[in-house]
Amino acid sequence: MSAFKQRVFSGVQPSGNLTLGNYLGAIKNWVGLQDSYETIFCVVDLHAITTWQEPEVLRNATREVAAGMIASGVDPKKSIIFNQSQVSAHAELAWIFNCVARMGWLNRMTQFKEKAGKHKERASVGLYVYPDLMAADILTYLATHVPVGADQKQHLELTRDIAQKFNNDYGVNFFPEVEPLIFGAATRVMSLRDGTAKMSKSDPSENSRINLTDDRDSIAKKIRKARTDSEPLPGTLEGLEGRAEAMNLINIFAALSEREAKDICQEYEGKGFAEFKNDLADLSVSVLGPISEEMSRLMGDKSYLDSILREGARNADEIATPILKQAQDIVGLLRP
Ligand code: TRP
Repeated sequence: MSAFKQRVFSGVQPSGNLTLGNYLGAIKNWVGLQDSYETIFCVVDLHAITTWQEPEVLRNATREVAAGMIASGVDPKKSIIFNQSQVSAHAELAWIFNCVARMGWLNRMTQFKEKAGKHKERASVGLYVYPDLMAADILTYLATHVPVGADQKQHLELTRDIAQKFNNDYGVNFFPEVEPLIFGAATRVMSLRDGTAKMSKSDPSENSRINLTDDRDSIAKKIRKARTDSEPLPGTLEGLEGRAEAMNLINIFAALSEREAKDICQEYEGKGFAEFKNDLADLSVSVLGPISEEMSRLMGDKSYLDSILREGARNADEIATPILKQAQDIVGLLRP
């Protein structure tokens, strides 16, 4: 293998609590990338403020996401961990990209439509140009690989479009083509109350999600209370069709145990949910309990967390700023 490592960038928003969905869908998958790539992981606070955040809550959530990453195995000695607002290249390159991206492109973004809902004219302008900032996050490091959940695929395609249009418009070959690293369907974690809705930190029902800060008792309780149907478990994946809640729990089991969903089905064929949920509760507690405990220990040591974020921002800035300056030169922004 060559000594040159390709660069991975990914981000998580500090809005609300980190959930099992963030863990299985994102953070857990980052841990294994740290040895084969140069890895940069960002708490995207500028993205969070595209919808209203209480300032003190935002500050706390920013530290909590950093703590969640570290507790899950992202190692500050191997990866750069920082919060987005502290490296100004992100916002500066995002402005350039606001001038590259077309209204028509952004109008097609399904996440904006979902988040803005019926009241599009009352959504912030920031929410609308959110994908341009995301493109800047990635491209200000010339990152080539971006691990994300399936719901971010469209944003990554937009990132590629922006890079390509920039290169075309200015006759350069500057920004790389970004490759998504999409982790399996099993990592799309759904609500414990409704198997057709994504597990979300904004769901009003606490029982719909497992927070990474939940203690062992609440983890087990929420699994035991999870909604199911009344049929016994099927022996195959096909048997899960039309049974969204059962499928979600099987997927969670598979992801937490790092096994194949079809093998879990085989093992529990014909068994009732009570037994399955007992095992899933034990498994969840054994994986998530230590993470939750390490997170609360880290949250008790804010000066340590802040020192990680400060050093991360310094290191990130060292990579990002020279790339931003080259982009400014290409665009014709005078740097006297
Ligand atoms: N939009 C992403 C999400 O909601 C978070 C994010 C922001 C991100 N910037 C990024 C992910 C850059 C990957 C790369 O999940």
